[in-house]
Amino acid sequence: MLTQSATLATNERIQALRANGVPVTHLAFGEAGLPVAPEIAAALAAAAGRNSYGPTAGIPELRAAAAGYFDRRGLPTAPGQIVAGPGSKPLLHALLSVLPGDVVLPRPSWVSYAAQASLLGKEVVWVPVPEGSGGVPDPALLGPALVAARARGLRPGILVLTLPDNPTGALAGASTVRAVCEIAAEHGLMVISDEIYRDLAHEPGSVLSPAEIIPERTVVTTGLSKATALGGWRLGVCRLPEAELTARLIGVASEIWSNPTTPVQVAAAYVLAEPEPVRAFVAAGLGLHRAVVRAAYETVLAAGAGCPAPGGGFYLYPDLEAARGNASSRADRDAAGSGAGLGGAADLAELLLERYRIGVLPGSAFGDDPRGLRFRLATSLLYGDTDEQRWTALRSTDPARLPWIAEALARLGTAVAELTGKGHGDLR
Ligand SMILES: Cc1ncc(COP(=O)(O)O)c(C=O)c1O
Repeated sequence: MLTQSATLATNERIQALRANGVPVTHLAFGEAGLPVAPEIAAALAAAAGRNSYGPTAGIPELRAAAAGYFDRRGLPTAPGQIVAGPGSKPLLHALLSVLPGDVVLPRPSWVSYAAQASLLGKEVVWVPVPEGSGGVPDPALLGPALVAARARGLRPGILVLTLPDNPTGALAGASTVRAVCEIAAEHGLMVISDEIYRDLAHEPGSVLSPAEIIPERTVVTTGLSKATALGGWRLGVCRLPEAELTARLIGVASEIWSNPTTPVQVAAAYVLAEPEPVRAFVAAGLGLHRAVVRAAYETVLAAGAGCPAPGGGFYLYPDLEAARGNASSRADRDAAGSGAGLGGAADLAELLLERYRIGVLPGSAFGDDPRGLRFRLATSLLYGDTDEQRWTALRSTDPARLPWIAEALARLGTAVAELTGKGHGDLR
């Protein structure tokens, strides 16, 4: 049975704890954590009267703006190649439904890809992500994994890549992306390149899209949820390589969501045209995410965890293997006391929440080995509980030192250091 998405379920659990007065440092949810830019809010408000159903693929001004957005990123695009949907998540589901074959995923990868594959009755072919590959499958293992999957009777047809990546927060380098694309083409795979964090790459311009390498077999998805922090507005777009696939996708969309909310599409057209206020807002957000996630990275490393270096977005994927078997670590003493043991990722996430009041997601939620002691943390909900705090964070030149952010990072450092046995002390 498919249960509620781990991200949404954990978020609701933490919100319930907080509502009961339990102070939880919430690092479990991938919401961008920023206020709404006033110019974007004004664009939405001005379109409130647009209450008619619209074209399934999206209103013409949105499709044109999205085409321009991709053009500016080196991907020449006609408006007819764009389909908009109520978030990129349903677009991904619809794409997985119209593209033939089973789904090849990096292990770990974002929670919903595998869940959507399973909803569609498709099998998942997991391929490990080695340290330093930026969250995409190891090119050396991808080919053999595809051959082995076929030998087991599977039909690998779709490879999903996330650039920059969620959950690892890393970004694959150009040579890795090229190598993976070459193998995908050799094996006849279509690639879905999920580029929802593209504009939050810590070094702007550092993302190489598979659509630049194998354009005829790449679909790119993105949306407004991350760089412009409009997750609840539910608007995503995808860029398709050819007309027949576009027509099939529109067919599915027409039977499920009819069209994305029209006033939100008007605001999205404004966003994707990237006028100066939007560019300034996205740049400020990127600066904030980068500063805080890097501070969190240094915090967990200093506290004895392993962790891939962040390359984009606001996630980290620490590895607390050092906490296992460490006689001086509090985790082990706890485990010895309860007899339960720190058996894997779920135990670790539970311990972090119950003992340290820090909410994270276990690596197993992303398809990772449940015995590993890895978890994903998001720094984006640390920016503030009020819009005033969030604007202050956005405008700060050193946001990691704002008291409410610094305090949360210190709590994280103390907890990780206790678990790894690295002790206390000034970790930041
Ligand atoms: C990798 C990735 N893809 C897609 C999405 C879905 O975004 P939305 O449906 O809000 O566009 C998310 C959201 O967390 C994500 O992290």
